[in-house]
Amino acid sequence: MSELIEKLKNTHQLTDDELLRFLAEPQPEDELFAAADELRREFYGDAVYLRGLIEFTNYCKNNCYYCGIRAGNPHAERYRLTDAQILSCCAEGYSLGYRTFVLQGGEDPYYTDDKICAIVSAIAKQHPDCRITLSIGEKSRESYQRYYDAGARRYLLRHETADPTHYRRLHPESLSLENRKRCLFDLKAIGYQVGSGFMIGSPYQTNDCLRQDIRFLQELQPAMIGVGPYITHSETPFADQPSGDLHFSLKIIALLRLMFPKALIPATTAFGSMHPQGRELALKAGGNVMMPNLSPTAVRKLYDLYENKICTGEEATQCKGCLERRIQAAGYRIVTDVGDSLVPTAAAEPCGAIRGKE
Ligand code: 5AD
Ligand code: FES
Repeated sequence: MSELIEKLKNTHQLTDDELLRFLAEPQPEDELFAAADELRREFYGDAVYLRGLIEFTNYCKNNCYYCGIRAGNPHAERYRLTDAQILSCCAEGYSLGYRTFVLQGGEDPYYTDDKICAIVSAIAKQHPDCRITLSIGEKSRESYQRYYDAGARRYLLRHETADPTHYRRLHPESLSLENRKRCLFDLKAIGYQVGSGFMIGSPYQTNDCLRQDIRFLQELQPAMIGVGPYITHSETPFADQPSGDLHFSLKIIALLRLMFPKALIPATTAFGSMHPQGRELALKAGGNVMMPNLSPTAVRKLYDLYENKICTGEEATQCKGCLERRIQAAGYRIVTDVGDSLVPTAAAEPCGAIRGKE
C-alpha cells in the first residue's frame, strides 16, 4: 500500500509536507477508497444517514462570486416558502421516515429572527422526535442562541476556504473569513452540532488552500464535513472559470474520511450533478450521509446554486425511493433516524426548558 495511505489509515494524520504531497501526486484510487471505506465501516458500518433538505428561500443579500442565487444575479427567479409550506414539507418527510430536517436558504432578511424562531418552534412542536438543522448563513451569536432556544440543534455553515487571500477572491468586501470563523465557533459554544466544509476546485484554489482547509477543520472538529466539486454557473462573475474535477473531489472525500474517521460526510448533490453516479462514488470513497430534497417540486429548479443541479425535475417527487435504490445498489443501508455523529458536541448543555425533547 502506498506509504501515505498507510500512514493516514494508521494515524489519521499527515504533516504539512505529506499533505501537500498527497494532494499533488496521483494516488491509487482503489487503495485509497478501500482504506476510507474500511475505516467508515469500522465506526458506522454500512449506514448511510438521510437528512431531508428544505430549500425555503433563494433570496440572498450576499454576492459570493461563485453562487447562482447571489443578490447580483438579476435573472434568478426568486421564491420564498410560507410557514405552512415548510411545515407540510416536514410532514411529508416525516411520513417517509425522515427524522432530521435541514432548513436551508440564502441570507434573506425577510426571515427575521422572530420568523425563524416561529418556524423552528412550529416544527419542533409538530415533530418532537426530530432534529432541526438550520443553514441560513452568518448571524450574531444572540441570533444563533435564539434559534437554539427555539429548538434548533444543528447548523450547517461551510467556511468555503480557510485561506484568507483565497476567501477574498471568492467573496466581496462585505464578507470576511474572520466573521465566518466567529460564527462557527459561536455555534459550537452554544452547543450546536456544527457542519462546515468547502468547495473543491473553486477558482484560484491551490493545494495549499486545501491544506489550510484541513487544518481549520482539525481545529473546529465539526460533526459534519460537507464538500463537493465547484460547478460553474453562467450568471456569475466566474462564468468563464472551469468546474472542479470529479476524481480529485473523490480523493478529497477519502482524505477527509481518513483524517476524520468519525465525521458525518455527505455525498453531496454537487457530486450527483457532475456525474450520474457521483453520489454513489462519494459514498464508496468514504461518505456516509445523503440529503434528499424535500422542497416542493415547483421551486426546486429555482434553488439554482450551480448549473445542471440534479433532482429539480418532475422525476424528483420520489427522491427517497430513488436514493434508497441507489444506496442499496452501492452496497449500503439507509438510516432515517436522527443519526447523531460520534463527534462529541461542545461544552454547552441544552437548556432545561427543552431538555425533555432531546
Ligand atoms: N458550485 C458548487 N457548490 C456551490 N455552492 C455554492 N455555489 C456553488 C457552486 N457554484 C455551495 C457552497 C454553499 C453550499 C450551500 O453550496 O459551498 O455553502
Ligand atoms: Fe432525487 Fe434521485 S435522489 S431524483
